[in-house]
Amino acid sequence: MMDEVDDRDFMSASVVDGDRDLDAGLRPSSLGDFIGQPRVREQLELVLHAARARGRTPDHILLSGPPGLGKTSLAMIIASEMGAAIRITSGPALERAGDLAAMLSNLVEGDVLFIDEIHRIARPAEEMLYLAMEDFRVDVVVGKGPGATSIPLEVAPFTLVGATTRSGALTGPLRDRFGFTAHMEFYETDELVRVLQRSAGILGIPIDADAATEVAGRSRGTPRIANRLLRRVRDFAEVRGNGHVDLAAARAALKVYDVDDLGLDRLDRAVLGALVRGFGGGPVGVSTLAVAVGEEPATVEEVCEPFLVRAGMIARTPRGRVATAGAWHHLGLQPPAGAIDQVHGVRAREDDAGTLFN
Ligand SMILES: Nc1ncnc2c1ncn2[C@@H]1O[C@H](COP(=O)(O)OP(=O)(O)OP(=O)(O)O)[C@@H](O)[C@H]1O
Ligand SMILES: [Mg+2]
Repeated sequence: MMDEVDDRDFMSASVVDGDRDLDAGLRPSSLGDFIGQPRVREQLELVLHAARARGRTPDHILLSGPPGLGKTSLAMIIASEMGAAIRITSGPALERAGDLAAMLSNLVEGDVLFIDEIHRIARPAEEMLYLAMEDFRVDVVVGKGPGATSIPLEVAPFTLVGATTRSGALTGPLRDRFGFTAHMEFYETDELVRVLQRSAGILGIPIDADAATEVAGRSRGTPRIANRLLRRVRDFAEVRGNGHVDLAAARAALKVYDVDDLGLDRLDRAVLGALVRGFGGGPVGVSTLAVAVGEEPATVEEVCEPFLVRAGMIARTPRGRVATAGAWHHLGLQPPAGAIDQVHGVRAREDDAGTLFN
């Protein structure tokens, strides 16, 4: 039944059931294949090129940005552009320093060590990582109590690639040890059209240009969501039509799945609704807003808010979150006098030095 479709999962930028295989099959495999993110691509190209020319491993690289924008794909691309092997782990998996020591001691020269969700790494492992990043050495503590000794262990020169949806949650010392931070941004519609056309080509889905534009416009600036919507639209076109995705099929499919014009999902709409109806448009703190919609503050802050800010619905101010006139209009309400018109000049992410979303 239609109302059983969980649009929270459906429009979530995070990995949900069935995405893993899709992600793997559609991942771009070289920088040239990687669509969009022109700034990050140019910066990375320079870093990698210079390292190759010097015959050295590249500096440690931090990839920062909301879910589904291509951080894991980029980590793999970095390794393949360097002709290096990639070892993959994640912050939550590195609970004890020993877990990390084992990974580090198995590295061979030039390897890329990819730590996903690096902001969730446990403190003892993090401290070990400092030393490994800086001096390619770890101190392994053997034994307990007064007889414990610390044995220094060499680590082969490697490149750490960290990915985080919350670079603000990284400790200063860890952040400082990365030579380069790539700030991933939401994709423009025309870039998502190219992502969709590439994916449609790989999956053998015939899709018209205007249909691709329609899907792209509702994909929340996120390639993972674009790819997921593409599959749903294909299902619709195959079941209700002849398999060819034209504009009418795309629109009808998106209607079935309750994806609105902006691609907002239920939680986004709940956050906007709470802000506008519950708090008169704000300003209100993010934790208060999270309580109002029954979600974790981190989910509201990392998952909903970046896109709502980008879509011009919410502005972050020193006193809290504020609904823009656009948010009131989107909910079919008349904005009060004095509602913020647009979000030009408002920092989308505190940690995003100098980049403004418009
Ligand atoms: N620039 C791109 N060009 C083409 N496809 C892309 C691009 N970026 C991402 N994708 C697609 O989106 C999917 C998700 O990307 P990826 O897993 O790299 O995101 P992520 O940032 O690591 O997400 P998370 O934060 O959830 O780990 C990939 O499978 C790939 O198909
Ligand atoms: Mg990832």
